[in-house]
Amino acid sequence: MLVEAYRLIDELENNKRLSVNKWLRLIKAFNKETAAYAAEKAIRIRREIYGDDVYIRGLIEISNICKNDCLYCGIRHSNKNCDRYRLDINDILECCKEGYRLGFRTFVLQGGEDPYYTDDILVDIIKAIKTDYKDCAVTLSLGERSEESYKRLFDAGADRYLLRHETANELHYKKLHPDNMSYNLRMNCLKSLRKIGFQVGCGMMIGSPYQTDENLANDMKFIEEFSPDMCGIGPFIPHADTPFKDKSAGSGELTCYLLSLIRILKPNILLPATTALGTVDAFGREKGLLSGANVLMPNLSPVAVRKKYSLYNNKICTGEEAAECLVCLKGRVKNAGFHIVESRGDIKLI
Ligand code: 5AD
Ligand code: FES
Repeated sequence: MLVEAYRLIDELENNKRLSVNKWLRLIKAFNKETAAYAAEKAIRIRREIYGDDVYIRGLIEISNICKNDCLYCGIRHSNKNCDRYRLDINDILECCKEGYRLGFRTFVLQGGEDPYYTDDILVDIIKAIKTDYKDCAVTLSLGERSEESYKRLFDAGADRYLLRHETANELHYKKLHPDNMSYNLRMNCLKSLRKIGFQVGCGMMIGSPYQTDENLANDMKFIEEFSPDMCGIGPFIPHADTPFKDKSAGSGELTCYLLSLIRILKPNILLPATTALGTVDAFGREKGLLSGANVLMPNLSPVAVRKKYSLYNNKICTGEEAAECLVCLKGRVKNAGFHIVESRGDIKLI
């Protein structure tokens, strides 16, 4: 069993693809030994391309108002206990100013699907950031929009777009989302983003309710075929005000194993050690880096709104100023054997 898993990991390294069935066997083979074997390879591969560099992205959570009702998400529309807020252009530019001072050269604007942010408003925000900070990249993470809308945001200067696919299995997608949300629409959004020219990120939660090993095998196959520039994966964590409040959290160890496999699959991918990983394990982000991740996304949102952007419970870094988080992270990254660099951190072409 162990030998077979090692062979599959070698095959992945050599061929950069596996059949769904082999992905499934690799996922089922997860244990301490296979994880260590995959992590060792992943670290070597990431060092060959990115050295010891860790890229940072300043995450600005622009709104927790959302028209959607994803069953797992704490800012879902039906959550009446969520104290709603949105940031305007001036608030956002303030975050960028502080972020730039601290050394961030990528700003990620993330939010719920809040109808306030029309194309016109977002275009103004993107242009303002790109005018003031010419050496910075702007990443958007604002959910599903029309292709025309994505095109306008790209033309305004946005560089990258994160839209997790959440699960590459339509039946599983239906169990995580209300009837008015569609798996096909989500997949089409990803295709549009790619076609328009964005650097695109997809991703999924690990251990989300009803997820099977087969589903994860589908996710890995999807990542293999879609070949994203970025991939955000983190453990599912229950939120008390959602229908999934009694579901158990996903495993940090399995998340790290999958981070390693994704690194081996796509050596130059931009792979964050997520805040969710840092929430299920006090050293989750370090372990993520040591499994092949090369990106961190510290919070740049104003401290006054941080606790309100609650996708899941017990989220870390909601009380700290950005400057405090950065000092903390620099130490953590150094202890893990890496260092944070001040750059846009674009994907390296190989
Ligand atoms: N636990 C972990 N991750 C979550 N997300 C949303 N809710 C949760 C949760 N309860 C993730 C989703 C979304 C991203 C912004 O956050 O994958 O795409
Ligand atoms: Fe907002 Fe899902 S609840 S995108």
